[in-house]
Amino acid sequence: MFSDKLITTFDKGLRTIFAASTAARTRPDAHLDETPLDDASKQHAAALMRVNHVGEVCAQALYSGQAFTSRNPQIVSALQHAADEETDHLAWCEARIHELGGRKSLLNPLWYAGSFTLGAIAGALGDKWNLGFLEETEQQVSVHLQNHLNQLSDSDIKTRTIVNQMQQDEIAHADSAKQLGAGELPAPIKVGMKFASKIMTKTAYYI
Ligand SMILES: [Fe+2]
Ligand SMILES: [Fe+2]
Repeated sequence: MFSDKLITTFDKGLRTIFAASTAARTRPDAHLDETPLDDASKQHAAALMRVNHVGEVCAQALYSGQAFTSRNPQIVSALQHAADEETDHLAWCEARIHELGGRKSLLNPLWYAGSFTLGAIAGALGDKWNLGFLEETEQQVSVHLQNHLNQLSDSDIKTRTIVNQMQQDEIAHADSAKQLGAGELPAPIKVGMKFASKIMTKTAYYI
């Protein structure tokens, strides 16, 4: 029923933004001890993890928006599987931010609302474009995470291990979208997506 779907979707949004997330998988760095870090490296890592946390809030919103408007049950189930892994990422980022002495973005409600709208539009455009949007998003996130791996201190093995696992998962999400029949997005759309994510990452580093 549409009203049930609406309530579940709205509830999921509120939980993503305001509640602490729980991961289904063990944290990839759980077996590693904390290594000593200087203040600058720690602050930088906390800010990068805030950016990644915002990215994961956006991922939840995109998947939720896409599932809300998609009419293909096979795709909705693939979206659900990826969204579950994104929930792990969300929880891992959140926990790591706190360990590094940082805080989550104050603008999460805004990021969520914007990303949900984009996801819902993609879902309504049909499978090919919905999956194409998903594949391109995941590819861009993977490149972005590599950029963070290049910036994180070599000594920060715990943060690096988390980001590394997230990157592997994002690559798998992109591959699964491709296998399900993702279409290649037009170049201007890809450029627009890169531009939007640049604004998000620059802002989330500070706020
Ligand atoms: Fe993720
Ligand atoms: Fe992903």
